[in-house]
Amino acid sequence: MNRKRVGILISGRGSNMSALIAAAKAPDYPAEIVGVLSNRAAAPGLAIAAAEGIATASLAQSKFPSRDMFEDVMTQTLESWDVDFVCLAGFMRILGEDFVNHWAGRMINIHPSLLPLYKGLDTHQRALADGATVHGCTVHFVTPGLDEGAPILQAQVPVLAGDTPDTLSARVLVEEHRIYPEALRLLATGKVGAL
Ligand code: GRF
Repeated sequence: MNRKRVGILISGRGSNMSALIAAAKAPDYPAEIVGVLSNRAAAPGLAIAAAEGIATASLAQSKFPSRDMFEDVMTQTLESWDVDFVCLAGFMRILGEDFVNHWAGRMINIHPSLLPLYKGLDTHQRALADGATVHGCTVHFVTPGLDEGAPILQAQVPVLAGDTPDTLSARVLVEEHRIYPEALRLLATGKVGAL
């Protein structure tokens, strides 16, 4: 099998990254995780990836004169790993148009809401404040508009009486870890594509 090469961008704990790494261990999974790049050297996910024997890189935007130069080096790093696809997994920076266009159709993200509801941050808190009865997560293509690209997969969870942002987030996270590997499988096997 010709497994697609995947790079993951993270900023933090990397639980979605870990779900992708775990899925890719199955011999019949159509993708392999070849590199993990973080914009924060302290991201716990970096050590997890390194312990799995995966190439890692840490690049701080503050060390670069401009966002464009930072993102050019991100692209160079991803290309040095020869990746076919890029998965954003809790990467907490808004990406510039040039970077996004360079990876158009080849870069996906997991977002903790049922898009187009609750783009941006604090999704669980906002769903609770609205009295939502269902909530969930979406894997979608990345386009220049924040959280606006075409969805690939979504999963719903109920909002329960007494939920806090933490309890709701934990329920959604279980679904994130389930659908992200499934969405990457669809992408890697050519069953979904942008445009
Ligand atoms: C997840 O909730 C994801 O949906 C959002 O950021 C969080 C990252 O968590 N984009 P983790 O680093 O994957 O654990």
